Amino acid sequence: MVTVSAPGKLMLMGEHAVVYGYPCMVTAVDQRLRVSAERTRSSRLSLDAPGSRDTRFVEAAVARFFATYGSTITDRGVSLSIRSDFTSQVGFGSSSAVSVATLKALSLVYEIEMSSREIFDAAYQVTLDIQGVGSGFDIAAAVFGGTILFKKGGEIIEPLPNPVPLVVGYTGIKADTPTLIRAVAEKHKKEPEKLDKLFAAIGKLVLQGKEAIVAKEWEKLGKLMNFDQEYLRNLGVSSEKLESLISAAKEAGAWGAKLSGAGGGDCMIAIAPEEKRRSVEEAIEKAGGQVMSVTTHAESIRVDV
Ligand code: PMV
Repeated sequence: MVTVSAPGKLMLMGEHAVVYGYPCMVTAVDQRLRVSAERTRSSRLSLDAPGSRDTRFVEAAVARFFATYGSTITDRGVSLSIRSDFTSQVGFGSSSAVSVATLKALSLVYEIEMSSREIFDAAYQVTLDIQGVGSGFDIAAAVFGGTILFKKGGEIIEPLPNPVPLVVGYTGIKADTPTLIRAVAEKHKKEPEKLDKLFAAIGKLVLQGKEAIVAKEWEKLGKLMNFDQEYLRNLGVSSEKLESLISAAKEAGAWGAKLSGAGGGDCMIAIAPEEKRRSVEEAIEKAGGQVMSVTTHAESIRVDV
């Protein structure tokens, strides 16, 4: 039996624009999802995933693994057990983490060499098989960990130094990522010039944000996050609840705050001076958010003992 764990993720900057070919930045978080795998005598998949909404991703990852490597595998009986530090409600990327961890666990129990890049490519295909849309940034965070500058499909996967000290507030509302991506695509069809400009502007902010992270200029990163949030609001993906948590964080002294991910719900992130951190957290809670205590820049996929 092997157990593999993969980290969750938070988008730092560049959501939505990344779907249109611009760079984004993502950080892995130390909330992990574990897949234990064992070969069995049966010829089928047996799955133990209490409370999981992501079994489709597991099944698709298994199907893709056997479709790619199955010609040399005669006994396909395998039992998979999934456990997670986080639910699929919060937007930490349970479907990407489970796809990645399933592929890695299968490669180990069947003794098939898979490079990190191969795991990324296979898991990204799983996302596309099921959702039809997405950049793959969440898959990259699960496979490679740390903090990453990323371009769609893994065209760029550049590790960045320095953990970003985030305050994270959960809205209590589950965002539906594919629906939001499609809503933005509809808007793009109607107003291509306006949206192309917005995406390009977001892409520029991301590259400035990268410099801020490299230089550990957190105040500057916060300001760039504020501009990014303005663009996201213009895109129509923010929500009342997100806005109220973001304002609360800024009023309590955060340098910057924005939504993280597709929008509509899930989490917001803020960056604040160390001495204001506690009051920012309190302000988020007071505004009806739930502070999630996470460490960023978490370790990549790994074999757990
Ligand atoms: O909702 P999340 O956390 O999976 O983030 C989605 C980010 C998008 O840029 C909107 C989509 C994508 O796949 O990059």
